[in-house]
Amino acid sequence: MDRLKAILSDPENSVRLAAAIEREPAHLPDGYVSPLVGDPSAIQWYRARKALSFYAWDIYAAAAIKHYRAQNPSRGAPLVNARSACVGTLPTQFIDSLESEYLRSKEVPWRDERPEGYSFDPFNNPQSLPGYRDECMTHHEMSSDMGALLSAILTAIAPEMEAVLGHYWSAGAVRLFSQKPGHDGGFHTDGWPLAVRKLMIYPSGADAEKGTTTLVLRDGSTVNITGGKGTWALFENSTLVHRATAPLPGNNPRPTIEISVMPAFRTDPTITVHGIHVGYPWLPPDVKGLEGDAIPNGFTSEEINARSLLRTLMLAIDLPDEIKATAPYLRGLGYLDA
Ligand SMILES: [Fe+2]
Repeated sequence: MDRLKAILSDPENSVRLAAAIEREPAHLPDGYVSPLVGDPSAIQWYRARKALSFYAWDIYAAAAIKHYRAQNPSRGAPLVNARSACVGTLPTQFIDSLESEYLRSKEVPWRDERPEGYSFDPFNNPQSLPGYRDECMTHHEMSSDMGALLSAILTAIAPEMEAVLGHYWSAGAVRLFSQKPGHDGGFHTDGWPLAVRKLMIYPSGADAEKGTTTLVLRDGSTVNITGGKGTWALFENSTLVHRATAPLPGNNPRPTIEISVMPAFRTDPTITVHGIHVGYPWLPPDVKGLEGDAIPNGFTSEEINARSLLRTLMLAIDLPDEIKATAPYLRGLGYLDA
C-alpha cells in the first residue's frame, strides 16, 4: 500500500506514475516475470481499476446495444442470449489460406506483451509463468499478411457476428497459439467485463481428438466445439465455464486464433492489437478522439484517461487523510463534492 500512497504524495506526477504501474509488466525481455505478480499494491490497484472498468463497459455496452437496435429495428434477439455460444464456418475462400498462413507463422517463446491500456492480472502465480505456458502451448508471431487476412475474414463474418451479439463490434487483441497434446487447460471463466466476448477461430478445425475448447453451457451440459478447418466460435467467456482441451497424443498441436470482441457504435474489424497476450482494454477505446471545443470542458480523451487513473488510485488506498493534500488535483473527480 505504501507504494500507492507515495504516488499520491507526488500529485504533480501522480498521473504519470500511476500509468507507469500498468506499463511495468510490458516491454520486458522474454521470460521476465512481472514484479507486480503478488504485489499487494498491484493487487489493490487491479481491484480498483477492474471495478471502474466493469462499470464503464456495462454502461458503454448498454448504449451500444440501444444504438444498434435503433438502427436495426427488425433484427431479432441476439443469438448469444439464448445459446451463450455460437459456432460457424469461415467463407470457403478463406479456409485454406488461413491454415497455410497460420502454419507459416513464426513460433516464439511466451513473453509478457500486454498492450498499453489493457488489463493485467497480478494474481498470476510466478511459478507458472512463462515456462508453464510454453510447456502447454506454442505461441506464434502475427505477420502483416496474417493481420490483413484476419481483417478480411472478420469483415466477411461481421454481419453474422452482429446478429450473434446484438450490437456493432470492434476487434480487440489477437493471439495465435497451438495447444500441445497432453496439456488440457483447467476449467475456468475469464473474468472479463461481460460485454467483451471471445472469438476463437480454428484454422485446422477442432474436435475431441485434434483438440478443442470445451464449454459448460447454461443448462449444465458439456460440449466440445466441433468442426472442420475454418470453424469459429463466439462465446460468453466470462459467464461460461470452459477449458482448452488438448489434442489426443499423436496429434499435432491445435492451431487457434483467439480474438477479444468489444461492443462498439460501428463495426470495425481491423486488427490493431496483437501479441502473445489476449485481453481487454480497461476502458472502451472509443473515448479516443474526443478533443475539440464543442465538447464540455474535461472531456478530451487524455483527461478522461488521467481521471480514470486518479480515481483508481483513490479507490485503491484509504482516502481521508490524503485528500486534503492533493485537493487541487482531485477537482472533477467526485471526491470533494460532499
Ligand atoms: Fe478462458
